[in-house]
Amino acid sequence: MEVIIKENYEEMSRCAAEIIAAHIKKNPRLVLGLATGATPVGTYKELIRMHREGLDFSQVVTFNLDEYLGVGMDLGKPYHLDQSYARFMHEELFAHINLKPENIHLPDGLAPDPEEFCRRYEEAIKNAGGIDLQVLGIGRDGHWAFNEPGSSLASRTRIQALTKETLDDNYESFYRQAGIAREEMPHFAITMGIGTILEARHILMLASGKKKAQVVAKALEGPVTSQITASAIQLYSGKATVILDKEAASELKNIEYYRHVEKLKAEMEAGR
Ligand code: PGA
Repeated sequence: MEVIIKENYEEMSRCAAEIIAAHIKKNPRLVLGLATGATPVGTYKELIRMHREGLDFSQVVTFNLDEYLGVGMDLGKPYHLDQSYARFMHEELFAHINLKPENIHLPDGLAPDPEEFCRRYEEAIKNAGGIDLQVLGIGRDGHWAFNEPGSSLASRTRIQALTKETLDDNYESFYRQAGIAREEMPHFAITMGIGTILEARHILMLASGKKKAQVVAKALEGPVTSQITASAIQLYSGKATVILDKEAASELKNIEYYRHVEKLKAEMEAGR
């Protein structure tokens, strides 16, 4: 696991976007796993800027991690009520780059048979050849995607009830500003499982801000536990890159070691 500590949110976002862009340049048909939430917004802004400068998404295939159950891009609904992750992705990224619509995969919060949909989502990931690079945040309760505390570390795409902490955070980030009552928020979601995420070939986990510091330290340096599903990163066999800003890294015990490794890596790269 590589831990990169950046000065602030902007630098974290730039670094993440550079890694994603390098993957796309190396493999234009990249299968890219995407995350929602406040954390990746800056990364997506950077990717949009890079696209304007020529970064080509025309063959990239995307899979999103999760979606609230009961919401979706429903054009029949008043716009302000649609707090779906589908709309979020459209506004924050998809509308601004040249992904082909048929290459975009999002869990469908309006699927008539959500369980069947989850099975098909897993199949679609397999048929695409698996996820090459998966972007992840981390929730204050330690979740990856909507894998709330207690989720099996072998779980697959499925329906998940959300914790109070997640509901509180997402209400503040997305629902309050839209004038939606707390009770109207969806309490269930479709989420990729931890087992699904661990099959990605490269994981890119991002966290910023003081309020993530404790949970980041638990996930990276505490015991592996289903109570902090992001701690599954410690079982991960692919390449893991964790990019933090200074505040999110502030509770890490091994911070000096991570910085030392970063410095050695930079020296090696400069020597090439
Ligand atoms: P946030 O959410 O980026 O809005 O903090 C992260 C997450 O829940 O994974």
